[in-house]
Amino acid sequence: MSTRLDVATARAQTPGCAAVVHLDAAGAALPPRAVTESVIEHLRLEERVGGYRAAELSAERYERIYDQLATLLGCDRDEIALTDSCTRAFQLAAHSVPLRPGDRVLISRAEYASNVIGLVQLSRRTGAEIVPVQTAPDGTVDLEAFARALDERARLVVLTHVPSNDGMVNRAREVGRITRAAGIPFLLDACQSIGQMPVDVEDIGCELLVGAGRKFLRGPRGTGFLYVRRTFLERLDPVMLDLVGARIDGSGQIVPRSGVRRFEPFERSVALCLGLGAAVEHALGWGLDAIQERVLELAERLRRELSALPGVRLCDGGTQKSAIVTFIVEGKDVDELREQLAREGVLLWTTGRHAPLDGPPPEPSRVLRASPHYYSDDDDLDRFLALLSATISRRSAGRAP
Ligand SMILES: Cc1ncc(COP(=O)(O)O)c(C=O)c1O
Repeated sequence: MSTRLDVATARAQTPGCAAVVHLDAAGAALPPRAVTESVIEHLRLEERVGGYRAAELSAERYERIYDQLATLLGCDRDEIALTDSCTRAFQLAAHSVPLRPGDRVLISRAEYASNVIGLVQLSRRTGAEIVPVQTAPDGTVDLEAFARALDERARLVVLTHVPSNDGMVNRAREVGRITRAAGIPFLLDACQSIGQMPVDVEDIGCELLVGAGRKFLRGPRGTGFLYVRRTFLERLDPVMLDLVGARIDGSGQIVPRSGVRRFEPFERSVALCLGLGAAVEHALGWGLDAIQERVLELAERLRRELSALPGVRLCDGGTQKSAIVTFIVEGKDVDELREQLAREGVLLWTTGRHAPLDGPPPEPSRVLRASPHYYSDDDDLDRFLALLSATISRRSAGRAP
């Protein structure tokens, strides 16, 4: 494989590469040593001086996280809030959009299940309607259907950029063009795209974006973030505020803090946030174009060689693909197969293909998911493919002729 990225260095910086074949960046990627060390270093500081003093001593490094994320997303530092997950960021954003009965929230059919659950709750609370928009035959959003659905009742458009259970990349930029022209706010779930490809909020044209640290960004678990376009901030009514997000003036009125950090809670894990900062810095160091080129090489090889194995069916939609490769092996239970591979030190994941709000459940309903990252090498893929192939032939050999 030809790649601009120095894979040997990436592996040397990733202790997990020596222990397992890790093909689950879409679940939680292997962190580089720098990320783990920055978390531990801060925990050690807390051990010595206590959490409050430790936060003061790390304040400069902590503040840099906002600059790092702003560079990653192409926005300003005061347009970012840190959260403890992508779902939290999503709920904070969606539940803060003022909605009334009869208003509509348009979603794609590739929405992450937690997002849909949050939106159904939002609908119960506000009386707004959640409207899934038709997809194109390849599973991505149907742009014409989206444009048609943007009538005077539409108040928010929600889109998952890269689903967790399908290797497609959704047409975020095109949706952004349509929402901008219509003047409707656009909330992008970039949980799976952040860290595996360039994601720029200006280029996409979203007002809101949410992401997680632990996936392709290689940050620690328990981290996430919310971007809110500055010009959109005052149109939100924050669903939850605490004494960091707001103050009470003398007449009992709540005055929100300036900037998007009003969405942040007082209590947080400084250590994990510092780990997130280290992960973003690490990704920026490699460059998102180089990372994307590398992960696509790996995913393409996987798709090519998996589809040549007997009984394997690829399940990815879309024309533009991501580093997520989904598949089934005919007649084989995907969870059992995953367990067999895990016992041999090859780690992938299985995932449900969630039923949409308005239609039959997809078929197959569960798939295997292999999601390599740039630290995966040819030997990793060889090992995985050989093991899978051996498992399939064992099964075929055991069958009556
Ligand atoms: C597309 C997508 N959105 C949202 C989430 C939720 O992220 P978190 O678990 O950090 O809340 C996930 C998690 O897998 C995801 O894949």
